[in-house]
Amino acid sequence: MTGADSTSLVERDSRVLWHPFTQHSRWLEDRPIVVDRAEGMYFWDIDGTRYLDGVSSLWVNVHGHAHPEIVAAITEQIRRLDHTTFLGLTHEPGIRLAEELLGVAPPGLQRVFYAGDGSSAVEAALKMAYQAHAQTTGVRPLIVHLAEGYHGDTLGAVSVGGISLFHETYRSIMLETRQIGSPGLREVGQTPAERAAEVLAELRDLMAAEGSQVCAVIVEPMVQGAGGMLTHHADFLRGVREVCDATGAFMIADEVATGLGRTGAMFAVDHAAVAPDLLTLGKGVTGGVLPLSAVLATEAIYEAFLGAPIEAKTFFHGHSYTANPPAAAAALANLNLMRRNNTVVRAQEIGDRIGRNLAVLDEHPGVKEVRRLGTMTGIEVFAKTERTGFDICQQARRAGVWVRPLGDVVILMPPLALRDDEVDQLTGAVTDSIDAVLG
Ligand SMILES: Cc1ncc(COP(=O)(O)O)c(C=O)c1O
Repeated sequence: MTGADSTSLVERDSRVLWHPFTQHSRWLEDRPIVVDRAEGMYFWDIDGTRYLDGVSSLWVNVHGHAHPEIVAAITEQIRRLDHTTFLGLTHEPGIRLAEELLGVAPPGLQRVFYAGDGSSAVEAALKMAYQAHAQTTGVRPLIVHLAEGYHGDTLGAVSVGGISLFHETYRSIMLETRQIGSPGLREVGQTPAERAAEVLAELRDLMAAEGSQVCAVIVEPMVQGAGGMLTHHADFLRGVREVCDATGAFMIADEVATGLGRTGAMFAVDHAAVAPDLLTLGKGVTGGVLPLSAVLATEAIYEAFLGAPIEAKTFFHGHSYTANPPAAAAALANLNLMRRNNTVVRAQEIGDRIGRNLAVLDEHPGVKEVRRLGTMTGIEVFAKTERTGFDICQQARRAGVWVRPLGDVVILMPPLALRDDEVDQLTGAVTDSIDAVLG
């Protein structure tokens, strides 16, 4: 603590910083919160005001902030081994974490490759899919992805994104891909199963024409998060698996947002009892404390990279901080807490309570739709202005609850250890704010 006040810090910030996904022409006017500390489900600004962290600090926090067991695990680890490279060296936290992740992963995933954040895990998965084909069945340069999909902000991840606002600008420098419809975007009166069948038919047609050129189909399973919490029927995932099996394309499940409990199952693909060939993990892996992500791969994909060094089949890919030991220790503590606290079951309970509490919005004239799976919740409103979603979140902020919109969709995605009264605080502030802004 320096004793600086929030006004002077925001001024200093505005002179030197460039924030992610932020239009800086509005930054000062929107009065950003200067966060001072965080504990449990709350964070405090430097003026002492408390906020409930209703979006788990962008979908990462699991057991609350500064959980003593995660803090202790990191501290102990950092004293023993802070960081060494994972290129040519290995260490126990990295090994144990891989064993534990594979222990809870869908069947068939047998290898763990570490990366740094969600986007870098997606990049690695895309390159693995491409190179595995190139080294076995032959080059297949196309990747299939979904409209309204989001997989991160690096160029490979952007190439398989389907949100025009974020992705269109970069079209001319992207990888070549094929986009199919979003299984979560339904016509009025269309059931989720009908929509799943429709998009699967589109996928089958595409694969009939170009399947031999497709190395992978990438999906956000069950919930397209950044697309506005668009949920789809589990049949869609089963269909994608069948199409991939029939055509030899790899199925990549991007579980960076959905993985490790958020949807009320350990992995979102579990809702469909489907196992992908590659699965990406990030965000909550460390309990939301340190950056770490991973790609889980089948043994068949791993074996495609084996050969004599001269054959150059190696996966020439990695980062300076791969398998960072304190991050791995945090992830081990996170998984331990998840087991002990039955976090996946608790996530279901929290989600059910959110659903019950938000039922009051069913008939609300300002609300178009409430979408939810487990704790991942999106409330789509009828916008009065281009900033209606934002205005609702600013209103909630005045009530001590921090949530973020995605356009006209107010997102709720709390930590998975929220108590019932805290769930009520979250949904109460959000429904009151919707009333205040939309009447
Ligand atoms: C499904 C999905 N994949 C990848 C990412 C990118 O993760 P990161 O922001 O850690 O790079 C996100 C982030 O929201 C995501 O939701």
